[in-house]
Amino acid sequence: MSRPVDVLLEFLEAEQARGVTHVHLDDGARGVLREVFNSTKAKKTAPPREEAEGPPAKTTLDAPKPPAAVAKISIKGATRAEQLDSLRRQAENWSPAKSLGSLRETMVFAAGNPEARVMLVGEAPGYQEERERQPFVGPAGQKLNDILKAMGLSREEVYISNIVKFRPSTPKQTTNNRKPNAGEIAACLPFIRAEIDIVRPACIVALGETAAEGLLGITGTVAPLREKWHDFEGTPVRVTYHPSYLLQTGDGHQTKRQVWEDMLAVMEKLDLPISPKQRCFFLPKA
Ligand code: URA
Repeated sequence: MSRPVDVLLEFLEAEQARGVTHVHLDDGARGVLREVFNSTKAKKTAPPREEAEGPPAKTTLDAPKPPAAVAKISIKGATRAEQLDSLRRQAENWSPAKSLGSLRETMVFAAGNPEARVMLVGEAPGYQEERERQPFVGPAGQKLNDILKAMGLSREEVYISNIVKFRPSTPKQTTNNRKPNAGEIAACLPFIRAEIDIVRPACIVALGETAAEGLLGITGTVAPLREKWHDFEGTPVRVTYHPSYLLQTGDGHQTKRQVWEDMLAVMEKLDLPISPKQRCFFLPKA
């Protein structure tokens, strides 16, 4: 199991790798860091265990760990498909993710067209995705297929991926899924970055707040991130609600329309034809 400080270091290294030079710490975060620092100091200044409590217990918990080898991705292959395949093979045994101990074994990489003009990015595979080893094939995936169909697109034309490549685990897990945490996002981030480098889509759709956090480094809800174009190293990113949110809100017309307006903006960006009927989808009937 990783210590919290290792998770924090991995997160900061991933941020640094994406060019972030400063992180904002609020009072709460400062307090947590102070506690971590003080507890490390307390351990260092504690008397040797023999003096304090007799002979040392047989435990390796406090033993200094050798520095973790820095895991690096290398992209091999001539075509985009070959390059994505080389990434996929590296993701299977990606030690920064494996060493967390909080993600499940089966890797789910991505699906779709390596030459796609639009890339849709979700958060992490769920129960059904893990079973089929394909992203977005469960109920949220069906909803995503409906959205694509309304745009006049098929799954085969677009590229579909997730920020985290393994299903986050929970105790006694059956079909339940959980959101990935910041450490899990940071551990898998090099892959989605490399996928974007290879596919070079004209635009990206971030589905939900985990995708927005991973791609844009912005935490919080989706609402304030919608209705504008963000930038991921030169590629425009549109943030919209995750399809599972549409399932939760019971297809409420307002959320449906909001997602549709985000998709209309994506269609405009891609120069896709938009019919008058499409423009009016999910508007209340006059
Ligand atoms: N939710 C996601 O974010 N990704 C999937 O692949 C499935 C559900």
